[in-house]
Amino acid sequence: MKHYTSITDIDDINAWIEEAKKLKQNPLADNALGKNKTLGLLFFNSSLRTRLSTQKAALNLGMNPIVMNVSGDAWGLEFEDGTVMNGSTAEHIKEAAAVVSQYCDIIAVRAFPSLTDKEKDESEQVLNAFKQYAAVPIVNMESATGHPLQALTDAITISEHTKVKRPKVVLSWAPHIKALPHAVGNSFVQAMQKMEVDFVIANPEGYDLSPEITKDTPIYHNQEEAFKDADFVYTKNWSSYETYGKVINTDTDWMITKEKLGDAKFMHCLPVRRNVVVEDAVLDTDSSIVIEQANNRTYAAQLVLKKLLENG
Ligand code: CP
Repeated sequence: MKHYTSITDIDDINAWIEEAKKLKQNPLADNALGKNKTLGLLFFNSSLRTRLSTQKAALNLGMNPIVMNVSGDAWGLEFEDGTVMNGSTAEHIKEAAAVVSQYCDIIAVRAFPSLTDKEKDESEQVLNAFKQYAAVPIVNMESATGHPLQALTDAITISEHTKVKRPKVVLSWAPHIKALPHAVGNSFVQAMQKMEVDFVIANPEGYDLSPEITKDTPIYHNQEEAFKDADFVYTKNWSSYETYGKVINTDTDWMITKEKLGDAKFMHCLPVRRNVVVEDAVLDTDSSIVIEQANNRTYAAQLVLKKLLENG
C-alpha cells in the first residue's frame, strides 16, 4: 500500500481489524518503527478527533508529528494548472507538496468538499494533487468524498461489540441544521460492504447516497422498517447527493431516540448535535458506544501509519 486514501486500499478488512485489536492491547509495541520519522498533518478544515488521535498514533509509533492549519496559516494554495496566479492564491500545490515532502515522511491531509460543485468535489482535487506532487505516502484524514480512517475505526468498533455471528447494521440519516458532506457515509458503506454483516441504509427520499457507492445495498425510506432487529445503528447526517449539497428535508422525526433504537447500539463519528441528531437519552446511556468508537480512532490511524512505515 503506497497511500491510504480510500477504504479500497484495505486488502483484507478482517485481517486489518484483528491487527488493530492487537495494537490496541499493546500500543507501544512498535515504538521503534517510527524513530526519526516525521508525520505532517495538514488541515484545511476543523477537527478534534482526527487531529489528536492521528498525532497520538504517530507518537505511539515513535514518530514526530507536526501539524499545520493550512487554511489561514499557510499561503493560499493554487490547484489549477496553468493559472495566472494574480489573484488570492500565492503558492502552487506543485511547490508546496514537493517542499512538505522534504520535511515529512508521511503527509496526512484533511480537505472537505465545496458541496457546490459535484464534479469538482468528486475529482478529489486537493487529495489527488498531494498524491501527484508529493514524494511521500498520503493519508486521507477526510476528503471531499471519503473518511477512510473513520470507517476503519467503525469496522473495528463493530467487530469488538458484535455478539452474534452476522450482526445487522443500519446506517441511518438524521436531521441537521447545516449541509454536511457525504464522506463519512460513503466510507462507512464501503467498509460494511466488505464485512460479514447484514447492512442496510435508511434515509428520506432525495437523500440516497451516490449509487456508485451504495451499489446493491438495500436503501429504506422508512426508518422504522430499517431498524427492525438492528444490532448497530450508525447515524450520520449528509446533504442531498441528487440535489447536490442541499438541505431538502429537516424532518425532526428522523432524530434517533431510545425508543427507536431498542436494544441496538448507537454509533456516530462525532461531533454530534444533541437533541437534533440524537436525543440525550441515547447518548447518556449504555446504548451509546460513541466514546469507545472515538478511542479506536487512534488504533485505526496507528495501523495505517504502521503499514506505510513498514512499506518503507
Ligand atoms: N470524526 C471526526 O473525524 O472527528 P473530527 O472532525 O473532530 O476530526
